Amino acid sequence: MSSNFKTLDTGTRALIVGASGGIGRAVTLALGDICGMAGLVTASRSADGLEISDEGSVRSFAATLDGSFDLILIATGALELAGQGPEKSVMAMTPEALRAQFETNALGPALLIKHLHGFLPRHRRGVIATLSARVGSIGDNRLGGWISYRAAKAALNQIVHTSAIEIARKRPEAICVAMHPGTVRTPLTNKFVGGNPAVDPPEAALNLLRVLDGLSPADNGGFFDWRGDSIVW
Ligand SMILES: NC(=O)c1ccc[n+]([C@@H]2O[C@H](COP(=O)([O-])OP(=O)(O)OC[C@H]3O[C@@H](n4cnc5c(N)ncnc54)[C@H](OP(=O)(O)O)[C@@H]3O)[C@@H](O)[C@H]2O)c1
Repeated sequence: MSSNFKTLDTGTRALIVGASGGIGRAVTLALGDICGMAGLVTASRSADGLEISDEGSVRSFAATLDGSFDLILIATGALELAGQGPEKSVMAMTPEALRAQFETNALGPALLIKHLHGFLPRHRRGVIATLSARVGSIGDNRLGGWISYRAAKAALNQIVHTSAIEIARKRPEAICVAMHPGTVRTPLTNKFVGGNPAVDPPEAALNLLRVLDGLSPADNGGFFDWRGDSIVW
């Protein structure tokens, strides 16, 4: 399988945060097949107590790491929080759910980027990718709704883009990107997929890895879908 990939091989060191999630677990399994388990480090809230919205927790986790990672994937996130699913109307928005969305989908990944980007290699290619969502695109928003999740993912996109510019100053071969994984059948979507086209996590994992494998430093700071196409901010 490794021959299908340009950059992923048995020497790859990868870190998956959110490895307990539908997509995170599938990416972990796929990387295990492609690269072997030796270079894989995984972390999650349920298995390791890593709470991404708590800086102390993120800092303590980062302190357990050493060496550098060729790939860091932040696969955490949530759609339903504070007892609130995606809103159909701005009238359904609650302060609790909006705050919780920003904590989980924007603040958490921001803390992870802050404390983990230093583990990218200094003098060779390294990728730090965060799972965002196409619905976080402002330019692509024609339907409205889902205001808290959309807003938190839009904030995440700005955090990724801003961090990318700064990371590249010290690590010119670094690639920091936001990714839309497609619609994937996971616990996050099971109530919402309905009859919409969706893929299972193993397929989504390979789609994501193919795109991440093909990115170059010229793609740093971008927002890409599972096909590798750029998404408008
Ligand atoms: N599935 C889709 O169709 C789809 C589409 C677009 C974007 N995305 C994005 O892809 C990402 C992963 O989605 P998924 O479908 O794999 O979701 P999932 O199966 O629900 O997994 C979510 C993961 O996030 C972790 N997590 C949530 N809040 C956390 C917190 N405060 N601290 C630490 N970990 C936390 C969970 O940890 P524990 O389970 O260990 O608690 C779990 O590992 C999300 O950002 C989502 O917005 C998904």
